[in-house]
Amino acid sequence: MKNILDYETVALDENDSSVIIIDQTKLPNEVTLKKLYTESEIWEAIYHLEVRGAPAIGVAAAFGIYIVAKNINAEEYAEFYAEFIKQKNYLNSSRPTAVNLAWALNRMEAVCLAKKNAPVAEIKEALRLEANKIKAEDIEICRKIGENGLTLLKPGDGILTHCNAGQLATSKYGTATAPIYLGHERNYRFRVFADETRPLLQGARLTAYELMAHGVDVSLICDNMSAAVMQKGLIQAVLVGADRISANGDTANKIGTLVVAIVAKQYGVPFYVLAPTSTIDFNTKCGDEIPIEERGAGEITEMWYEKRMTPHGVKVFNPSFDVTGNELITAIITEKGIARPPFGESLFV
Ligand code: MRU
Repeated sequence: MKNILDYETVALDENDSSVIIIDQTKLPNEVTLKKLYTESEIWEAIYHLEVRGAPAIGVAAAFGIYIVAKNINAEEYAEFYAEFIKQKNYLNSSRPTAVNLAWALNRMEAVCLAKKNAPVAEIKEALRLEANKIKAEDIEICRKIGENGLTLLKPGDGILTHCNAGQLATSKYGTATAPIYLGHERNYRFRVFADETRPLLQGARLTAYELMAHGVDVSLICDNMSAAVMQKGLIQAVLVGADRISANGDTANKIGTLVVAIVAKQYGVPFYVLAPTSTIDFNTKCGDEIPIEERGAGEITEMWYEKRMTPHGVKVFNPSFDVTGNELITAIITEKGIARPPFGESLFV
């Protein structure tokens, strides 16, 4: 049977002009590959987290806008560009927090602008090349994040991670999982603890699944157990990903990350954020400026339960991300190196 890590998280099918994703809402029970052809199919797949994780969202958006642009029926640049921008804005509205979405779409727009005097067919070809480049770079960047992150770890370390910043969230290796995978190949024998990550269970469904598939020693814990495992001395480092890092190092990541960071500080465990530099948004000065996605109540009240487990009509607050203040972060590890506090200058690598 094919291992989940043998599948590509996001791929382009040039022959029938589609984006192929693993439908992550069905994991770990079913590995279903889904083909996306239209702008609304791409938007829905991102919105419903069929493809998710900041870097993978960026790659899906890049392939997505290429597919959509390829189908624009216009000979003149002005007409083509106007339609491109309309579709770009639409795709960009699918999820607000992960800045890699806007980052990838902006890179694609830059290709159109740079080629505004070229025939539309040539622009479309340049868009295809750029989207493929974004994906290829993502693989290389994650590998470098892994190498940099591994220098902070020792064989036998206990590692806690939250959500899924794994291969399923990127094109390969993941960000927070990259040092784990590279260390595993070098016999580091890490013991990983994966928070289940309510409400959408990315830790339980995705991180535990992909680490197990790779043969990594992983134990699943509920979100409210991170303090207990740190108190027992089982954790030597916390590794998490990021959806957006502001210029001062404040970091938005999956809801529940903040409490892990606070607990890590209490128990003197280093708290590391691992992300590509494309996740750093120098336009947001601090975490307060990061838009935080709020999602539907059903994710908390009934999803995953055999029957509804909450009173009908209960009020629900469901922010999908929280912001960990820079004072709680030991280091931010990117493909360029290891940034330590005070962030700001150190992030301009
Ligand atoms: O809502 P999700 O599943 O897209 O949230 C994902 C996360 O919070 C990840 O930690 C983050 O995107 C980094 S993925 C390398």
